[in-house]
Amino acid sequence: MITIKNLSVVYTTDEKTRQNKTVLADIGLSLSAGTVNIVIGPSGGGKSTLLKVIAGLIDHSAGTVKLGGADGCEPIIGFMPQSCGLLPWETIRENVELAAGLRLKKTGASAADCDNMKKQSLALMKQLGIDALAYCYPSEVSGGQQQRAALGRMFLLRPDILLMDEPFSALDELTRGEVRQLFAALCAGRRQDDCKPMTVLMVTHQVEEAVLLGEKIIVLDGKIKAVLDNPYRGQSENLCSQERAEFIVRLRRLLDREGGSTP
Ligand SMILES: Nc1ncnc2c1ncn2[C@@H]1O[C@H](COP(=O)(O)OP(=O)(O)OP(=O)(O)O)[C@@H](O)[C@H]1O
Ligand SMILES: [Mg+2]
Repeated sequence: MITIKNLSVVYTTDEKTRQNKTVLADIGLSLSAGTVNIVIGPSGGGKSTLLKVIAGLIDHSAGTVKLGGADGCEPIIGFMPQSCGLLPWETIRENVELAAGLRLKKTGASAADCDNMKKQSLALMKQLGIDALAYCYPSEVSGGQQQRAALGRMFLLRPDILLMDEPFSALDELTRGEVRQLFAALCAGRRQDDCKPMTVLMVTHQVEEAVLLGEKIIVLDGKIKAVLDNPYRGQSENLCSQERAEFIVRLRRLLDREGGSTP
């Protein structure tokens, strides 16, 4: 669960003259546990800034951010940055196991827990089609395979909150479609696991991607322009109904900086 109230972020653009720039103003959002939510908006609209604030990587100037974990525990946060964030000196397998391994170390897990994590890692890499690349380095595999490894890392960690900043943007259309499907399948798998729902907040530039994957679509341009429930999630672009087409037109209008701010 993610609850944000009256959030503002101001960057200091010039330390000497103390010039400030308000990037996010009076943001309010309430995202239920176990849902997939998509943020879209024009470049410079503060999408990455919002994810970084939620991840705790930068401070906000005003307001509150509350994140809920399972059973009131401190939430585990997975963050997939705009570049997929693999370490070039680690193999694909080491990269996949990095976050989950660090977490196990931090919690003083047993050798059996570590073995179990490694088994899950192999199963996940198989599901993602990168098991044969386990001992390759990121520079030796394709962009799509790197994205799969980054996804594997996030899902092996089993976070309560998954933040993804344009995770599929570097991929060609075909690979993008495949990796999107894998993402949807992994989310569906987690959804069946009722005791540990995962809340996803993902940024994309692509309206079609937002409509394909998001239960809720948030249009952000410095402030929240709209939060829309998306009844067309999971529907193929080829099965285009009149209503779906109109929904996409409405989203595109909202993205237009000159366009209206009322949904
Ligand atoms: N560390 C920083 N210091 C000052 N200004 C910043 C900083 N980081 C981002 N900005 C500014 O804040 C605004 C929002 O940036 P942000 O990266 O959040 O946008 P975005 O919506 O993710 O854009 P894009 O779609 O291009 O990735 C931009 O105008 C950017 O120049
Ligand atoms: Mg960004």
